Amino acid sequence: MTTVPKHSPVFSSFVLEGLELRNRVVRAGCFEGMSQGGMVTEDLIEHHRQVAAGGVGMTTLSYCSVSEDGRAFSHELWMRPKILSGLSRFTSAVHDAGAAASIQLGHCGFFASPSVIGMRPLGASPKFCLFRLSYCREMTEDDIEEKTNDFVHAATLARQAGFDAVEIHAGHGYLLSQFISPWTNRRKDHYGGPLENRVRFPAEVVRRVRAAVGADYPILVKMNQRDGMRGGLELDEAVQIAQTFEAAGASALVPSCGFTASTPFYMLRGRRPVKEMVQAQNGFFYKLGLSLFGWIMVQRYPFEPLFLVEGARQIRDKVRIPVGYVGGVRSITEMERLIAEGFAFVQLGRPTIRDPKFVNRLESGEIAASDCDQCNRCVASMSADGVTCALND
Ligand SMILES: Cc1cc2nc3c(=O)[nH]c(=O)nc-3n(C[C@H](O)[C@H](O)[C@H](O)COP(=O)(O)O)c2cc1C
Repeated sequence: MTTVPKHSPVFSSFVLEGLELRNRVVRAGCFEGMSQGGMVTEDLIEHHRQVAAGGVGMTTLSYCSVSEDGRAFSHELWMRPKILSGLSRFTSAVHDAGAAASIQLGHCGFFASPSVIGMRPLGASPKFCLFRLSYCREMTEDDIEEKTNDFVHAATLARQAGFDAVEIHAGHGYLLSQFISPWTNRRKDHYGGPLENRVRFPAEVVRRVRAAVGADYPILVKMNQRDGMRGGLELDEAVQIAQTFEAAGASALVPSCGFTASTPFYMLRGRRPVKEMVQAQNGFFYKLGLSLFGWIMVQRYPFEPLFLVEGARQIRDKVRIPVGYVGGVRSITEMERLIAEGFAFVQLGRPTIRDPKFVNRLESGEIAASDCDQCNRCVASMSADGVTCALND
């Protein structure tokens, strides 16, 4: 047994737009790979029921596409009335286990899978996607308006289903991040060029979602500090983007990093399980491409505890709304430090995949840190039978 300081601020409650969380620990969106046919399955509900019962204040149902054309996988949710009852069962199960439920809403943009969506992917500007071997179509103003409405409808449906919060995905090289990033946005109209233009569509999404869900509903925005490649977003612009999201009506920010279609392990750090990723793929060409070029396409970034803290601090100090910290949190000592220095909450990904009871075990003093070793084989598992920790095999 280890000793947890009594009345640790990590386990104090926290109020976000009227939503009271029992503690400062939130499960980060981690694609579960448990939504075959785009439906809410019992496995998906059970996965989050266990994470909720394991002690987090709020769990996040990971990436759900706001429309059918925003999907990267066939076993991924997309928001539509048909899944309302499944989503409602999801939120009831999480609430019964004592936690709040958030849902991450986004769109893959140029790295959507053409074979899954049955059309050419949409993007900020024409761009070849090495992971999909596809070339996207530049979005028109009508497309931008349609996707903005899709975010609004998705958030409205989420609220109807009993979610306590939505998390808009504006990072990791997803569609909104593709507009923000100079690496993917080469537009010549008022959505391209200077930062105020590149952030116009993402900010409008936040503004319109805020108008639709009302003033008292938590909207988290996950955004990038850096994209991780030459010509991508850097921290100085990210600080201004954070302020723009604040002005547009975001309740809280979660500054992450990386670009799924270019620097996929930048947001994770640690080992690259390329062999396991190849084994988990169904698509022949994707399997072939990954096995031939995987070691080049998937770069290596060494893991360090709290690997995003410097940039997160700079963003936190330039906005008035709460900022949550994500990226390499593994121990109670780190969590205490983060809360003490002014982060409102911490988000945990891999430690809760490793052990859904992680937070309860920290609180009881049974353990002081996660034994997740960043092997990242959980990333391969989400494309096979659903996300799981390989250390449990
Ligand atoms: C298996 C897996 C799936 C992930 N899927 C998502 C996702 O759907 N959306 C997202 O924003 N981040 C996703 N992430 C990134 C996490 O949310 C988080 O930013 C990252 O894992 C760093 O936090 P950690 O060190 O606590 O794991 C995923 C991470 C893992 C390990």
